[in-house]
Amino acid sequence: MGRLIVVSNRVQPPDAAGAGATGGLAVALSAALREYSGLWFGWSGETVDAFTGHLSMRKVGGVTLALMDLDEHDVHEYYNGYANRTLWPLFHYRTDLVAYERSFDEGYARVNARFAESLLPLIEPDDLIWVQDYHLLPLARALRRRGARNPIGFFLHIPWPARQIFTTLPRHAELVEALFDYDLIGFQTADSLQAFADYVKESAGGEVLPGGIAMAFGKRARIGAFPIGIDVAEITEGLKSDRAKAEFERVRASLLGRKMILGVDRLDYSKGLEERFLAYEQYLEDHPEGREHVFLLQIATPTRDEVEAYQDIRGRLESLSGRINGAYADVDWVPVRYVNKTYRRDALTGIYRAAHVALVTPLRDGMNLVAKEYVAAQDPDDPGVLVLSEQAGAAEQMREALIVNPFNREAVAEAIRRGLAMPLAERKDRWQALFDGVSTDDVAAWRDSFVAALKNEATADQPLRASANAR
Ligand code: ADP
Ligand code: G6P
Repeated sequence: MGRLIVVSNRVQPPDAAGAGATGGLAVALSAALREYSGLWFGWSGETVDAFTGHLSMRKVGGVTLALMDLDEHDVHEYYNGYANRTLWPLFHYRTDLVAYERSFDEGYARVNARFAESLLPLIEPDDLIWVQDYHLLPLARALRRRGARNPIGFFLHIPWPARQIFTTLPRHAELVEALFDYDLIGFQTADSLQAFADYVKESAGGEVLPGGIAMAFGKRARIGAFPIGIDVAEITEGLKSDRAKAEFERVRASLLGRKMILGVDRLDYSKGLEERFLAYEQYLEDHPEGREHVFLLQIATPTRDEVEAYQDIRGRLESLSGRINGAYADVDWVPVRYVNKTYRRDALTGIYRAAHVALVTPLRDGMNLVAKEYVAAQDPDDPGVLVLSEQAGAAEQMREALIVNPFNREAVAEAIRRGLAMPLAERKDRWQALFDGVSTDDVAAWRDSFVAALKNEATADQPLRASANAR
């Protein structure tokens, strides 16, 4: 096999990972690519006045990074527009937040074409190409139209929505038809895979054969579920660092005998932060005996701040945390510590370890790596309790967590109570099962299973691809 070329909108250089990468995709790929001497291609995150197509190349720890800048229209129409005002809310079931604008479609197509044009000269015949996430759904089509014949796989980090939701998207068929230019299409969960298969059968008039061959639009692609994992060693090594130890001590010293409930998220409306605050308020209301013996530390990193829905959620959380603190705080106790900082990854491990309960309660989430990182960072002799939303992809695997409906305030409040009171033996049993799962299904297993399946398609599908390319 030639090289592995990974393409994603967001690129996180492996050397910068310690410096506070946020977003599951960048964190996971950074971990996955450390093993391959591959190429990682994507947006630099910089905006320039006029697009030039110039690539800045550098090598970091065996990985070659090739980054391009985008212009203001690109960022407005493609990143803030079609990706984050159309696809993101739609795929997270927030049809009320979806914006459809013709210019977003055009910008999305234009930037995917720009990615293809800039990437094409770097591709060698033996390379495997692995495209990531909803920003780049039509990239294989753009590459094939320009003559690329390599095996190309796609992995969706966010949920694939139910057919009834997806079909509200104007030109939905065009988008799925473009996906069939990939050889392999990967999803996080069996649930997303099923939703995609439903679309193929019911809306595209295609079929899905046993073994995961989808056929529609006169083409075929293999489809499968490849749940993403974490780099467990990165967390366990991180815990040994001076920074993690100092952070752990700092948090523990601030407890003054209290228990800490922790949330760590990008400040995204899909994460259910408002509902979480309200559930915690409910807990305080229902359990006066718990007040002053517990607090919630919510770390929420601002994200996509040019998009109005993100400005709105930020404002609402500020007032909600203020309201709860106003109602319940005392001279020596604040019930909500609300922090908008990004922490270094090693520091974060110390904070995870110091927490007695983690609240991971997204309203919808492709997987959720915070749930897995929290488990990996626990002390085996005194582990904390994970409260996990049934709407996170991680809930398909992490059955030993306290699974909750994030919209059910009373149920989440009860899970908080149960987590805080859980006896050591039960905490250990649950944690051990969760840790075993997180260790086995880690980021290397995810990467290797996807790459193996793509290679498999490469050998199985040569004649078909050659004829598809000729079209
Ligand atoms: P998403 O990809 O939607 O952001 P995930 O939970 O899958 O959600 O991944 C989030 C990643 O970002 C995790 O690796 C987490 O450690 C990291 N992260 C989130 N918030 C912070 C923060 N405030 N400081 C440092 N890392 C963070
Ligand atoms: C999620 C998405 C990623 C994205 C990340 C951070 O994990 O699936 O594609 O990179 O959020 O969002 P951002 O817009 O900052 O890249």
